[in-house]
Order: sequence, then structure tokens, then C-alpha cells
Amino acid sequence: MNKLGVLTSGGDAPGMNAAIRAVVKAANYYHIDVMGIQCGYQGLIDGEIHRLTSSDVENIADRGGTILKTSRSSEFMEEAGRKKALKVLKNFDINSLVVIGGEGSLKGAEKLHELGINVIGIPGTIDNDMAYTDYSIGFDTTLNTVLECIGKIKDTDFSHDKTTIVEVMGRYCGDLALYSALAGGGEIISTPERKLDFDTMCSKLSSRISSGKKDNLVIITERMYDLQELQRYIEEKLNISVRTTVLGFIQRGGNPSAFDRVLATKMGVTAVELLVNGHSGHTVGMKENKIIHRELEYVHAERADKQDKYRLLETLLH
Ligand code: F6P
Repeated sequence: MNKLGVLTSGGDAPGMNAAIRAVVKAANYYHIDVMGIQCGYQGLIDGEIHRLTSSDVENIADRGGTILKTSRSSEFMEEAGRKKALKVLKNFDINSLVVIGGEGSLKGAEKLHELGINVIGIPGTIDNDMAYTDYSIGFDTTLNTVLECIGKIKDTDFSHDKTTIVEVMGRYCGDLALYSALAGGGEIISTPERKLDFDTMCSKLSSRISSGKKDNLVIITERMYDLQELQRYIEEKLNISVRTTVLGFIQRGGNPSAFDRVLATKMGVTAVELLVNGHSGHTVGMKENKIIHRELEYVHAERADKQDKYRLLETLLH
């Protein structure tokens, strides 16, 4: 192998740049040229491909977003789109590829592997929703952003004895809400894994209020409720004033944390080493603090219920 391609796909995640830097530096170490594919799979189909040198990736490890840009390509989801992508790879003489992205992006990587391209995946998503890895790149930074925002909301909630509902991202995974609450960020949490109905939330809030805790934070994962309806329900049932804050895209930006930079660096170098050693169709991950790799099909593995963490939360927030 003397040339490899790298792309970022799906929602951007802080730390993707550190992963790109690691891929380029490691590839150059093994005398392999790197081609940067712009805008994910769509850029691949459209042939937006340029050489990436070591100097292109200096001073990017601390930057959020992705210098390669990203997309969610519907064209690539179709067989015809993937065939076009394959042709472009052949034209550029690229037979090895590192794909950095979430579950959908790694699914795309699996398809390219089936078409004969040597592919290694790197999990890059703030959602932390892939079971085969304890952490994906971006999750830690986003968690810190969420906690910083929540800290500010708590200051004003305390001053006004107020209840706020905070909606965090995560798609269909409750890790951002769960870990925020574990880190002291909220009193009541509802996640896809442990969904609370309106009445349960009200009764938890009511018992906290009657025990003297008048400022309370309800953290919920996105896509679960009609927020206006939830706010109105709590206000009417408990006769209190409630505010709602959707943290939104602020969660995806910002400089990656040290943890994400180190994780991305380890994963980027490992991805190149796997290709050098003849592996394909695998994705890198982290389990019990060790960098691991599994077949790409593991990205679809069902998430184990994080029972230990929810139990911990119950002990803290009973
Ligand atoms: O997967 C990352 C993520 O930020 C999710 O948390 C969120 O649901 C989704 O992307 C938003 O996607 P889009 O950028 O396409 O609106």
C-alpha cells in the first residue's frame, strides 16, 4: 500500500481533526501518501479529493469540527452512488480508506469493504451510541460542554428557585444525559433507555420540592417529548414556573478535550497500522481503557443496558 484515503462523515465531532492528523502522520511514517476526501461520502462520489501532507495537519489537533468537512450523503446510501464512489477511488488509485464517523458512516465503510476496498473505521460521534466501544471521539468534549452550560443554568435556577428542563443531544442514546447527571449536572433524567412519563417526573419533582430543594434540573435526551407539552404539564400539575433550554448545536462545536485528542490520536495511528498489517473491514474502539478493533459489523451490535451507571444514579438521586 502506498496511498490511502481519509474522510469524515455524518455529524462532525470534536476530535475528528486530531484523528485526521494522526492518520496523516502515521501514514507518512510508513511512507504512505494520504488523500483527503472532502465532505464525506458525497465528496468521494463527486471526486473532491486532494493530497494531504504533514504540514496540512499541523496545528489542527486542538480545533473542533473537521478540516475535511462532512456530509450525510443520501446518494451514497444507494447502490448506484456507491458504484460511483468505487470508480472514483479506482481513478485516484486509492485502495485503502480510513472512515471517521458514527454508525451510519461506518455502515457505509462496511459496504465499501464488501466492494473490495481496504477499509478501517474510527468511531467519531458525540452520541456515544455504538456498543462495541466504550467511547467514541467527541463524546467527552460534548459532555464537558453540556456540563458547562448546565452549570450556568444552575446558577440562575438557584437564584430564582426555578426548575429547568434541559434537552441534550444523543440521537437515540441517553449517554450525554446519563453522564451529565452522574457528574452532578441534574436531578431528574429521562433517556431512551430509562424513559420517564410526565407523572413520574412530576412526582419526583414534587418530593424534591417538598423536601426543600426548590431549584431542580430535568435533563432529557432529544427526540423523546414535545417540550412545550412537558413544560406546561409540570407547571399546571405542580403549580410552579418551569423554563426549557435546548442546548442544540453548541454541543457539537468547540475545542476537543485532552481525552478526545488522545483517544483520536491513538485510534488514528491504530487505523493506519491495521491497514499496514493487512487488515480490512475492521473498526477501532476502546474497551476497558485499551484500544481494540472489531469487524465492522459490530457497529450494529445492540447496546448493553448501562445498568451499573443507572444504579449509581439511583443511589445518588433517590
Ligand atoms: O449524531 C450527532 C448528532 O448531533 C445527534 O446528536 C443529533 O441528533 C444529530 O446529529 C443532528 O443531526 P443534523 O446535524 O443532521 O441535524
